[in-house]
Amino acid sequence: MTEKQKTKRTKIKHALESSEFGTGIVVKGWVRTRRGNKNVNFIALNDGSTINNLQIVADPAIIDEETIKRCTTGACISVDGELIESQGAGQSVEVNAKAIEILGDADPETYPLQAKRHSMEFMRDIAHLRVRTNTFSAIYRVRHAMIFAVHKFFNEKGFYNVHTPIITASDAEGAGETFKVTTLDLNNVPKTEEGEVDYKQDFFEKEANLTVSGQLEGELAALALSEIYTFGPTFRAENSNTTRHLAEFWMIEPEMAFYDLSDSMDLAEEMLQFLVTYALENCKDDLEFLNKRAIEEEKTKPQNERNELTLIERLEFVKDNEFVRLSYTDAIDILRNSKPNKKKKFQYIIEGWGADLQSEHERYLVEKHFKKPVILFDYPNEIKAFYMRQNDDGKTVGAMDILFPGIGEIVGGSQREERLDKLQERMEAMGIPVEEMSWYLDTRRFGSTPHSGFGLGFERMMLFVTGMTNIRDVIPFPRTPGNAEY
Ligand code: 4AD
Ligand code: MG
Repeated sequence: MTEKQKTKRTKIKHALESSEFGTGIVVKGWVRTRRGNKNVNFIALNDGSTINNLQIVADPAIIDEETIKRCTTGACISVDGELIESQGAGQSVEVNAKAIEILGDADPETYPLQAKRHSMEFMRDIAHLRVRTNTFSAIYRVRHAMIFAVHKFFNEKGFYNVHTPIITASDAEGAGETFKVTTLDLNNVPKTEEGEVDYKQDFFEKEANLTVSGQLEGELAALALSEIYTFGPTFRAENSNTTRHLAEFWMIEPEMAFYDLSDSMDLAEEMLQFLVTYALENCKDDLEFLNKRAIEEEKTKPQNERNELTLIERLEFVKDNEFVRLSYTDAIDILRNSKPNKKKKFQYIIEGWGADLQSEHERYLVEKHFKKPVILFDYPNEIKAFYMRQNDDGKTVGAMDILFPGIGEIVGGSQREERLDKLQERMEAMGIPVEEMSWYLDTRRFGSTPHSGFGLGFERMMLFVTGMTNIRDVIPFPRTPGNAEY
């Protein structure tokens, strides 16, 4: 090895896979733990390239005592040493340190992450440092793998990725849960003669907000490119402090010309199975770690709330089993006659057809009744968005939601209303500003065709793949009511 190569850093992942014993190596990373005595010290070093730590052997006869002392949990160090076959159990290689350079100290008096188990709540308070733990670095790596797998899946199918705007003047879901975007001085808002906010004087000269969904713009692209997908941040100002809602989350929204609702269900099922398979094949070490972690967490729950399957078993199950497809009407029958409904155990009792399903109902169907992912379709038009295709029965729309164990709704989608008159009628009935949405209606005026699409909530998928139970733990910097730190 030349001098130049010797100074090159080796990633810990590669060092652990290497069997070039006796050669020089430079590794850099953050100290997880240090233990030892007067004769020898063992430092567990991690650089994020793998969940596994590399053991550094520091002999006080070679490395001065002061330096060894500064190798505390959290400190960043560079180690110049020799790769050797490990003597101890639990690892195959280790590094005999010849020199250690402290790149950054981490004062044990004030460094918040010590080598012990911290609660998830505590970790959320120090989200700027939590990626330095095994759990969160595993989640970040799996998240990356899933992002990559999404693009791989669609690219291999010939879908085009489209960037839809983040700032928009429309509210795609029509739910009025948008964050406003303005440069007006909030302490001195210009008013019209009628006393309303004068948006003409605002940056965009009209009311603007952060997007809740890229779907409407995605439809524009699909009606030219045939098959597209978006993968972007979406923003919802719904004040729901749950373990499944974020104010800022990422959504994958494929949109396909010439697809009917069942084609769209096929695609969604294939996509979910692809993502799960990709994780199983490419994130083995991290999933094994998360699997063990979830088993420990399960033990803290009451017996009747525990999962029958482990995380990895749940992933295998989704990969290998077809999803159940069930109409909303059939689901209502099952729910109405279910034990928790009859015994009034549900918080929201299902009285009859037309009820909006809550997460408790979705989870009952998936976890108790079918014990499989479920695709529900043909929902009442009253509870669904304006763009969904009216069915011939006059009371349902071609909507579909995919429900997953432990999560409830993970995908929401529909066949779109491609008939101009029906769409306009429905928009008017629902108070959607038809004039302002003229650009959307142009797709129906010119060369309209049946088309469908859906949205996968990326963080909900991450919950499923990692076995975490709070959505705040699967996005690096969660945005929730009262929380916009960092
Ligand atoms: O069901 P939603 O609201 O559907 C749409 O936005 C459609 N425009 C999608 C489409 O057809 N192109 O949202 C889709 C998915 C949900 O199933 C859920 O997984 C996720 O987005 N989602 C959220 N995830 C985290 N936090 C929130 N507040 C979420 N709201 C929706
Ligand atoms: Mg939905």
